Amino acid sequence: MSLLSATLLGTHFANPLLNASGVHCRFNTELDELAASAAGSLVTKSCTVLARDGNPEPRYFATPLGSINSMGLPNAGYQYYLDYAKAYDYAAGKPLLFSVAGLSLEDNLTMLAAIKAAATPAIVELNLSCPNVPGKPQIAYDFAAMDRMLDAVSRDYALPFGVKMPPYFDIAHFDEAAAILNKYPLVAFVTCINSIGNALVIDTETESVVIKPKDGFGGIGGDYVLPTALANVNAFYRRCPAKQIIGCGGVKTGEHVFMHLLAGASLVQVGTALYEEGPGIFTRLNAELTTILQRKGYQSLDEVRGKLRTL
Ligand code: DHB
Repeated sequence: MSLLSATLLGTHFANPLLNASGVHCRFNTELDELAASAAGSLVTKSCTVLARDGNPEPRYFATPLGSINSMGLPNAGYQYYLDYAKAYDYAAGKPLLFSVAGLSLEDNLTMLAAIKAAATPAIVELNLSCPNVPGKPQIAYDFAAMDRMLDAVSRDYALPFGVKMPPYFDIAHFDEAAAILNKYPLVAFVTCINSIGNALVIDTETESVVIKPKDGFGGIGGDYVLPTALANVNAFYRRCPAKQIIGCGGVKTGEHVFMHLLAGASLVQVGTALYEEGPGIFTRLNAELTTILQRKGYQSLDEVRGKLRTL
């Protein structure tokens, strides 16, 4: 075991870093680049039953503080990612996560049945928090719908899986969401957070929105979201002691990774900063994290995870 090694669902990871689903993971070429990078693992683009082109462009825009996007689930359809998962070289030691974002409960059950039948080692991350499909509210902001989804998926899929959650902003919502997740022991990990949905970036020069879909409304990531992400990681870490947490949101430096670990994350995903810097970012983040851990005298991530102090 080295300083950076991590585990999720009993699987070993050489380091805690991976991409956030949606970034650099729509095509095999991009997934292969992540597999060849210093990331500890990788996750596929959230998929639907049928391939989608997504929303009209421009649909991603970076600002000095982060990014806004309304991609609209452009993806090659689940069979494409399942073919990738079947051909993937697991023996090379880099676990693969498989993101699923059906447009209905039935679609999720269809995809999960096929994924289960393929019996690959890929780990499912069920996306309950896509904010960008016009006319489709986020499942995880409708607690009754989320409960029905997890009930049906637990019965049908019947294997351990994870859920990708949106940010919550109220203690009562942390309590209610965690209580629902805790009803389902097969929900083995919780990824916090997806983008903060339906924000609006304005360019004052052009007096215009910066992305085309949804009159400019989209999910924001990057520096805008780090404290919200840390709060959600820590809120679910505290409330879901039998589950693991994957941190996602605002990670641009090794220090940001260290913050997510302190808050309770077992693995840490990188979205906007990966989009802006490319897969070489994982070499830098691992080096920066190693420097911090060594300076503080830590010998494993286990000594850091969830050790956030309160006053
Ligand atoms: C998209 C964005 C998300 O935040 C997500 O969880 C799934 C899909 C998208 O716009 O493609």
